[in-house]
Amino acid sequence: MKSDDSFSRLDESDDSIFYATDRFVQHIDSLALSTVERIIGELVIGDNQVILDLMAGWDSHIPSTIQAERVVGLGLNRNELSRNRGLTDWVYHDLNENPSLPFPDNIFDAVLNVVSIDYMTRPLEVFREVGRILKPGGLFLVIFSNRMFEQKAVKIWRQAGEEERVLLVEDFFNRAGIYSSPWVFVSKGKPRPKEDKYGHLGIPSDPIYAVYAEKSGGGESKRPDLSVIWPLTELPDPEQLEGRKKATKDTLRCPHCNEGLLKWELPQNPFTQWDMEFLFVCFNDTCPFLVRGWEVMYRQGNMGMSYRFAYNPDRDQCMSVPVPSLHALKEGIVG
Ligand SMILES: C[S@@+](CC[C@H](N)C(=O)[O-])C[C@H]1O[C@@H](n2cnc3c(N)ncnc32)[C@H](O)[C@@H]1O
Repeated sequence: MKSDDSFSRLDESDDSIFYATDRFVQHIDSLALSTVERIIGELVIGDNQVILDLMAGWDSHIPSTIQAERVVGLGLNRNELSRNRGLTDWVYHDLNENPSLPFPDNIFDAVLNVVSIDYMTRPLEVFREVGRILKPGGLFLVIFSNRMFEQKAVKIWRQAGEEERVLLVEDFFNRAGIYSSPWVFVSKGKPRPKEDKYGHLGIPSDPIYAVYAEKSGGGESKRPDLSVIWPLTELPDPEQLEGRKKATKDTLRCPHCNEGLLKWELPQNPFTQWDMEFLFVCFNDTCPFLVRGWEVMYRQGNMGMSYRFAYNPDRDQCMSVPVPSLHALKEGIVG
């Protein structure tokens, strides 16, 4: 899995120096944040929970529906930790310097790690330690996105693609040898909130990846499978959709979002022998067909892919074309 410098960083100075600067900011957009809260709200179950927020800042993203008995924060910025209203108490502790956690065995019901796993230089030791301090059946929930402080993220994280990072975290759980096999939940490709500071750039909302497992020995899990209980992005009603599909020939509009389709030239090369020159493709980045596609494909094991609606005028046929990103295909737009 790793070469010797896999967990090296561009900035190898003491973490306490970098994190001494207060950062009272959110690290992901508001939609992604609400997804984080919903995930925590669904997965942290039961009353009087004792929770550890590992690598905590000023916001622990714990929804008010959770009535915890105790929420401990562990991190490297005293101002942020002391102003975190979700915490009952906190400790200042450098995990990279000392991955042993300053807590007794079997005391936590849940350990959360939010948008911070990128910075762990000794993850396997930490995952084992989290296993030690969790009660049997307790939850370790690791949530991450694709933004990071580059200089402090470990090399393997920086160099991995988003899907590989999911595999990496699953691997940490598996190698620790004290957890159930991990679950994965992904939310990506959603439209970025309009008021967001990057809203004008046309990039989607920050993706959210949740990889989580329970400490062995807790019996049958009572936690819901998020991929089952949370419905996929809604499409128009099937009858309306059928009507719109039939009319595409005349409207040249996407039946899913009603946006005008754009003429797209098919790339002809020795590997793609298309028998037509053009398709009409929906390039609306917020089209529900495309947004839903990321989740559908992920649930089918095709990570990092979605599809756009396309219309073949030669055959009067509605179809879909696969896309690995929002930028894909756009260079072929000709009208
Ligand atoms: C991107 S912030 C995320 C904070 C918070 N979890 C959130 O969701 O907003 C990364 C956090 O990791 C903590 N951190 C980074 N390196 C650490 C280390 N070596 N030991 C303990 N905490 C660390 C920092 O204190 C910082 O609060």
